[in-house]
Amino acid sequence: MKLVNKIPIWFMRQAGRYLPEYMEIRSRNSDFLKLCFDPELASEISLQPIKRFDLDFIILFSDILVIPYALGQDVKFLKNHGPLLNSISSKRDLNYTSLYKSLNKISNIFETIKILNTKKRSKNIIGFCGGPFTVLNYMVEGGTTKTHRKIKRFIKEKQEEALDLIKILTEISIEYLKKQIESGATYVQIFESWAGLLEREEYMDFIIKPNHQISEEIKAFSKHTKIIHFPRGSRNNYKVFAEEVNCDVLSLDRNYPKHLPNFLREKGITVQGNLDPEELLTEGKRIEEKTKEVLEKFKKNNHIFNLSHGILPKTKISNIEKVIKVVRNYETAK
Ligand code: CP3
Repeated sequence: MKLVNKIPIWFMRQAGRYLPEYMEIRSRNSDFLKLCFDPELASEISLQPIKRFDLDFIILFSDILVIPYALGQDVKFLKNHGPLLNSISSKRDLNYTSLYKSLNKISNIFETIKILNTKKRSKNIIGFCGGPFTVLNYMVEGGTTKTHRKIKRFIKEKQEEALDLIKILTEISIEYLKKQIESGATYVQIFESWAGLLEREEYMDFIIKPNHQISEEIKAFSKHTKIIHFPRGSRNNYKVFAEEVNCDVLSLDRNYPKHLPNFLREKGITVQGNLDPEELLTEGKRIEEKTKEVLEKFKKNNHIFNLSHGILPKTKISNIEKVIKVVRNYETAK
């Protein structure tokens, strides 16, 4: 008998501004963080893409920047601008007293997961946090920037202060993920979106070490929970990342070394990715072709289909449907 292998599929940012049903709720809730802390609405938003597309994974609706908020930083999301934080450069700039008090401030998120757990049917729930360096980037930059000048200078000129903050962020991320797991998350993804800014020793100290610690402690706490790492932009460092950090799944962006999929297969690490979200803005048969290319590239791997980054707000629903159809009709014999 031939064993047929179906490829599971979900999309980063599957709940978001490209969905009219999300925009409807958003139009009545101008405060984005408040929405993240409203378990009824946040669980409804998490389930919107599942109801529409029957995707295989439910991802918690929240944001990586709830952690700076929990640590006492001012975090706002401005319309058409993105996040805005009061920029900090030391632990002393935070209004931080204890880990448990901080997590209490955001404990509504665990209620969202508990609601999802009653409605998930057979689907997996993905909890998440930002990677410590990525969260630190927003805390120091004060929001989204192109140059990342402040964070780059900060880690060069004030290594000790920076590592102190990384230590706090690593510790709180671990406890935060544990609570998500206790509430029902079966997978956790660590979004290290700005890993690509660093090389060599800095990559080791600020990316590898904290992500390694998170993985070890999560596995010790709950060995069946699957951990997805996404050190975006790592290029040639993806390999050392996979060697040093205990990953069940490695999410890939567009640029990775040619032999990486083979290496991951040998190590038993599942590949997640990696259709470019820009492709979803194109028309015609190109989307189907590009989707097939991704499926073919990883046909020898255990593969979770996804994008190389989040869905863009201008994406058409019909284009998402095209991708799903190709993936659902694709079968590989293993
Ligand atoms: O994937 C999902 O559907 C789950 C929810 C989720 C959001 N943000 C909701 C959100 C997840 C997993 C995130 C992760 C996140 N947030 C990351 C890591 C992934 C990445 O994109 O690199 C980062 C860096 C953030 C920080 C953040 N949040 C930015 C820079 C912005 C503004 C720019 C943008 O893309 O909208 C946000 C806002 C945000 N987070 C929105 C959503 C649905 C849009 C808010 C709105 O205006 O309605």
